Amino acid sequence: MANYEELYNRLKKNQKKRKPFLKQLEIEAYRLYDRDIPAYPYVIDRYQDYFFVYEKGKKDIDRQLIFQHQKDVATAIEELFGVEQEKIIFKKREEKSGKQQYDKLTTFHSRNSGKEIIVKEGGAKFILKPFDYLDVGLFLDHRPIRAKIKKIAQGKKLLNLFSYTSSVSVHAALGGAQTISVDKSKKYLEWSKQNFAINDIDLSNHQFVAADTFEFLDMCLDKFDIIFIDPPTFSNEKKKQLLFEVEKDHEMLIAKSMDLLRPEGILIFSTNKRTFKLSEKLKEILWWSEITKKTIPFDFDDKKIHYCFQFQHKE
Ligand SMILES: C[S@@+](CC[C@H](N)C(=O)[O-])C[C@H]1O[C@@H](n2cnc3c(N)ncnc32)[C@H](O)[C@@H]1O
Repeated sequence: MANYEELYNRLKKNQKKRKPFLKQLEIEAYRLYDRDIPAYPYVIDRYQDYFFVYEKGKKDIDRQLIFQHQKDVATAIEELFGVEQEKIIFKKREEKSGKQQYDKLTTFHSRNSGKEIIVKEGGAKFILKPFDYLDVGLFLDHRPIRAKIKKIAQGKKLLNLFSYTSSVSVHAALGGAQTISVDKSKKYLEWSKQNFAINDIDLSNHQFVAADTFEFLDMCLDKFDIIFIDPPTFSNEKKKQLLFEVEKDHEMLIAKSMDLLRPEGILIFSTNKRTFKLSEKLKEILWWSEITKKTIPFDFDDKKIHYCFQFQHKE
């Protein structure tokens, strides 16, 4: 039987554990809880004073019980952090077979649609849209990768493929790189430009390209020192035609991208596919290393949240 007290104490303990890191890394967004107590099967991500609660339980659980558990979660957060209920947002991440992965979210919070908040991370700021989408604009699991890229960025040229809100490009730019961010969504590229603007980054050294990644790779004549690729697990067009599947297509994606990498450059590839296996052919033809252990953030108990690899030319 789930126990409210147990949940409250766990949230309190988790917050305490995270506190020194928050200061050290200058972050306002982090994972607070990940199914620590089996009876409360939620993931709770905190973005400043907003709490996003993702339900992760099986679909067949008693609805009445779910309602009680949600109430417990909301009350515990409210009591512990002193935030209004409006800032505790329940979202449901369903297994998608189709096209909705990045569609707008319809929730009872729709009256807040369009509302934006700004969070800080390691010297950068990001605009989040808590009420409009399932993903709010900043993937937390990639925080260490953003920090790594910022550290090596000085004087480099970065290509960010599937750039989403271009948070990696923002960090690279703040670290002193020129950047090109590519995404098929104009909406996300507009959001990316807003992220650059709130960080006071002059856009003269930065480009935003609205294109399909593969078409871009076929056309691009530039060369890069750093290439970052974080593709979706799958991607389809409006007609539901499957365009990309990471396991099947990463070999071609990485091989094509390597053609744009300067001789001393590095390519960083990350995927959230939990059963991902790296192509044997890539292992043969490139210098590669798996860096997942270094790229999982301190606040993630889930060590399979992503797999991350680094590639270089062999000669
Ligand atoms: C960053 S990826 C998702 C990463 C995250 N790890 C995940 O699996 O949910 C999502 C981005 O890829 C973009 N995207 C999807 N397919 C694309 C394609 N074929 N070409 C360019 N961008 C694409 C989407 O518009 C979105 O901004």
